[in-house]
Amino acid sequence: MSERRILVTSALPYANGHIHLGHLVEYLQTDIWVRFQKLRGRRCIYICADDTHGTAIMIRARQEEIREEELIAEMREAHVKDFGGFDIEFDNYGSTHSPENRQACHEIWKAVREAGLVREKKVTQLYDLTAGTFLADRFVKGTCPKCKSPDQYGDNCEKCGAHYDPAELIDPVSTLSGGTPEIRTADHLFIEIEKLHGFLEEWTQRGGALQTEVSNYLAGHFLQEPLRDWDVSRPAPYFGFEIPDSPGNYWYVWFDAPIGYIASTHEWCIKHGEKLDDWWKNEKLTEVHHFIGKDITYFHTLFWPAMLKTAGFNLPEKVHIHGFLTVNGEKMSKSKGTFIRASTYLDHLDPSYLRYYYASKLGSALDDIDLNFDDFIGKIDSDLVGKVVNLASRTARFLETSGLSAAYPDDGGLFAQASEEGEAIAEAYNSCDYSKAMRIIMAAADRANKYVDEQKPWAVAKEAANSAEKQKLLQDVCSVCLNLFRQLAVYLAPVLPKLARQTGELLDDPIIAWEQSQSPLTAKPVRKFEHLMQRVDPKRVAAMIAASTETAYGEKPSETAEDAVPATIPFDTDAPLLAEPLAEQIAFDDFAKVDLRVARVVAADDVEGAKKLLKLTLSLGGNHRRTVFAGIKEAYDPQDLVGRLVVCAANLAPRKMKFGVSEGMIVASGPGGSEVYLLAPDPGARPGQRVH
Ligand code: MSP
Ligand code: ZN
Repeated sequence: MSERRILVTSALPYANGHIHLGHLVEYLQTDIWVRFQKLRGRRCIYICADDTHGTAIMIRARQEEIREEELIAEMREAHVKDFGGFDIEFDNYGSTHSPENRQACHEIWKAVREAGLVREKKVTQLYDLTAGTFLADRFVKGTCPKCKSPDQYGDNCEKCGAHYDPAELIDPVSTLSGGTPEIRTADHLFIEIEKLHGFLEEWTQRGGALQTEVSNYLAGHFLQEPLRDWDVSRPAPYFGFEIPDSPGNYWYVWFDAPIGYIASTHEWCIKHGEKLDDWWKNEKLTEVHHFIGKDITYFHTLFWPAMLKTAGFNLPEKVHIHGFLTVNGEKMSKSKGTFIRASTYLDHLDPSYLRYYYASKLGSALDDIDLNFDDFIGKIDSDLVGKVVNLASRTARFLETSGLSAAYPDDGGLFAQASEEGEAIAEAYNSCDYSKAMRIIMAAADRANKYVDEQKPWAVAKEAANSAEKQKLLQDVCSVCLNLFRQLAVYLAPVLPKLARQTGELLDDPIIAWEQSQSPLTAKPVRKFEHLMQRVDPKRVAAMIAASTETAYGEKPSETAEDAVPATIPFDTDAPLLAEPLAEQIAFDDFAKVDLRVARVVAADDVEGAKKLLKLTLSLGGNHRRTVFAGIKEAYDPQDLVGRLVVCAANLAPRKMKFGVSEGMIVASGPGGSEVYLLAPDPGARPGQRVH
């Protein structure tokens, strides 16, 4: 039988918040694993989605006076952009608020009903009359019924650790309206998960599916006692799916969230003409791997396998659980500026840094990982720039005319030694022990650097001008160095996809397979060396922290002056103005006729048969889409455009072109060809806004 295919998921991020550096531990860990599997030639897809339902979304949409659908569409766009910025590459990024998810929920619910696992019970909850909603625990505060500490949340006391029912709180106050909630009773639907106790005992303890510490933890805690019935319904109003056989009640967000894994796979199957059952109902064909954080262990190791088992879906081959991120040794904190959003990081620093840093810290256990900025700067500078990139930057330019040597020169066994280590590196990646993989790779980099230091190509180069022998020596030494560099780039490709791309371009030989680490390249031209990676500028780190710091009043301080003004103002010639003199004066009304709008590029594609055109799909927000053909192909790579904001002339009459209808124009400057510069709205501008 052929090798099983792999379906990989990360937890679905909540649509009520932005992606931050804590989340990225997980999405980077997963992305590295998926890229590794693909590089090894395994068939593998990476599936994720936004988790969109629940009270928090409903409340926020009300506060912002928009529909929930609009809110989740905006957040999805932000999430997709953040992930893209970190080179996290999903095969499908869906949403739990999709027809596919509704359908899968119905199917699983039916199975759970038929298995006789559902029962109705009365639940007493606090109800906010002003807000017209039942209050989830975190929306109630009051005095602890045990120790009488004031200002405690609805379900547990931070002072004495007591757990209680929100209805037991003394003097409860709704944090939504500030009013006093009343106690109301409603019927809820529960799943009697205890009926699957035997199965869960077997599945969690059989080895392989969970890390040993997780199996032991479950055995020692939850599985010691009967499992508590799981409350899976919420009465209206609730943003979610209504339960088909219980009108007025909705599935609790944690019921439909993991089902989103299946629904998002379904979306992918529709796009690729595949059968969902091959991916989710055939364990012989497909192995499912979930990556999650330790806070959501219970849902993924007990509820979720119970649902899958009952409804006849594949059980996870493995649930990979990671620890939490601390920053400078502490919990992320808004007042200290260590609660850093993905987008804020990207405003200041190269994503490759964080990809490598996390990889160097992640082991296969559940330990928390610490982002320490001094360590971060030190590691990037010494490992990535000092050991890896330097191998190429000190030698590639000496090969620009000669190319790589025709036969791979004697390197004292360096290449062969690192080739032999390939399987150990692969094994470390496969078992999620990335820190071990990085250690082996950096040891190989150390050996390569020792070689450069001994051979001193820069000294050989000085003598090469008038000695053919030295010229050959220079070519050989540099061919060794560049091959050792490329070998490292292949090993690092799951972690540093951008470096792998650049290396592929340098040698005109794209890095696409692990085996490329096993044989050196010979007799290849070497392209002009382009800068690969810079040292970390500590000022940028400081600026990122400053931009993340909320003051006691919850305001963000303005960006530092250093960011706002360039150090020197360049002198600009008037050549462009002379090349195209100003047009005739117009009246304001003429200008006002042109309706310019901020738009986001959501797709950019080559147009077959057109040398200069790209086909852009622009979003004006919501579902408002425009197709625009733009003559910018020589200046922009389609993949660099997706996600960015542009300005679009939006009320031009549609124009029929050879390749299709163009519904507007995007605004750009420059004479054309490769010299085209798109106008970019500053961050904060939103698609659909008019440009005045
Ligand atoms: N929506 C749920 C998951 C549903 S899965 C069917 C959720 N969302 S979340 O946005 O809060 O978290 C998404 C993932 O990011 C979780 O696996 C969580 O553990 C992880 N992390 C969130 N904050 C984190 C850190 N500070 N550190 C490491 N991982 C963290 O939970
Ligand atoms: Zn208490």
